[in-house]
Amino acid sequence: MDTITMRQAADYVEQEVTIYAWVTNKRSSGKIAFLQLRDGQAYFQGIVVKNDVTEETFDLAKNLTQETSVRIVGIVQVDDRSKLGYELLVKEIEVIGESHDYPITPKEHGTDFLMDHRHLWLRSSKQHAIMTIRDEIIYATYQFMRQEGFVKIDAPILTGSAPENTTELFHTEYFDEEAYLSQSGQLYAEAAAMAFGKIFTFGPTFRAEKSKTRRHLIEFWMMEPEMANYNHEQSLALQEKYVAYIVQSVIDNCQLALTTLERDVEQLKKYTQLPYPRIEYTEAVELLQKNGFDDIQWGDDFGSPHETFIASQYEQPIFIVNYPKSIKPFYMKVNPNDPRTVLCADMIAPEGYGEIIGGSEREDDYETLKESIIKFGLDVDTYQWYLDLRKYGSVPHSGFGIGLERAVTWICGTEHIRESAPFPRLLNRIYP
Ligand code: 4AD
Ligand code: MG
Repeated sequence: MDTITMRQAADYVEQEVTIYAWVTNKRSSGKIAFLQLRDGQAYFQGIVVKNDVTEETFDLAKNLTQETSVRIVGIVQVDDRSKLGYELLVKEIEVIGESHDYPITPKEHGTDFLMDHRHLWLRSSKQHAIMTIRDEIIYATYQFMRQEGFVKIDAPILTGSAPENTTELFHTEYFDEEAYLSQSGQLYAEAAAMAFGKIFTFGPTFRAEKSKTRRHLIEFWMMEPEMANYNHEQSLALQEKYVAYIVQSVIDNCQLALTTLERDVEQLKKYTQLPYPRIEYTEAVELLQKNGFDDIQWGDDFGSPHETFIASQYEQPIFIVNYPKSIKPFYMKVNPNDPRTVLCADMIAPEGYGEIIGGSEREDDYETLKESIIKFGLDVDTYQWYLDLRKYGSVPHSGFGIGLERAVTWICGTEHIRESAPFPRLLNRIYP
């Protein structure tokens, strides 16, 4: 007899198999017990018929408690009413680990309670679906990057140079020196692009942002491609091709998870249509002003209501291009057609999910970059290695960063980013 997981059910119809599972719920009448089971890969039903099993087995089935782990012998059957399409006709049950007073019951729980029990909450079907889609996006990212000729280079987590806003750094001791947790691998990505041409980094990044919104995590994973001899236009073309690819991969490989999340696949299909619309920052400001956003002046950064409104004018993700230099980081290349702005773009997801990608062409001239470092009040010595890249065979280059959990939240269509990380780090929350 084979030991299988329910994902393999199609190959075992009408055969007797062994399955290791946990009991998520149970219902029984006099003659039949329905066990809701999960085996780590799938959620499914086990049926125990009184006349079909020993008395001990039927009694055991009736008394199983939530999250008890079991070894079950049963026969795989087709079940058109279930999402999975199969169920298990149970013959024998053996308890492996008992479970009593499991805190997460089938009734509704508040968010704080669930967050306190994140280590258990992960077992629920919705959380399982989100993590399955997260895994698919990670896998699709590696596939896409390999197909496009990129090499993965890991950036350090402990760093001495800050790429983004220096007020959002986590400080830590580094023997006798001071170090930060990485906010972005970008500066190292640029060095690696000069060595390998096209590279990407993919790792955890940290922002000590005091933001408590449904889009912000303190620790999140960022994927950052960097390309030598790419102008900003070429980078935008890569960005939209990549995003369409991960959406398509989720549509193709995560049907069950999308059903669990009640995500409309027709909606997702729109996001695989290229190209994505582009709108200049300046046009976006005018659009907002015309539509009653009196709080926005040229030179201001957009908040989420602004991003949501602009994105709502379109059906796909959009690029807002060429923001003012003053609100973007020091490394962005000045737009030769309008020196008040830089060659950059944010990709804004539809349906109110906000910015998922930030990217730009990088300043490649030594003196201009050095001036910018000084103007931003940064310490030139700390950035000397980064300036060196402009000293020895500098080339135009571009890159971008996508926040994994932002992409997951949007593609899943879920409410809050905290459910898109297995163990989210949030403002005032580092437990569990
Ligand atoms: O726009 P950001 O700050 O850009 C960078 O860090 C660049 N160095 C990237 C690059 O060009 N290589 O961050 C990039 C993306 C955002 O678009 C967003 O998706 C995500 O990272 N992000 C966050 N995700 C969750 N929580 C936060 N606090 C985030 N901050 C940024
Ligand atoms: Mg940004």
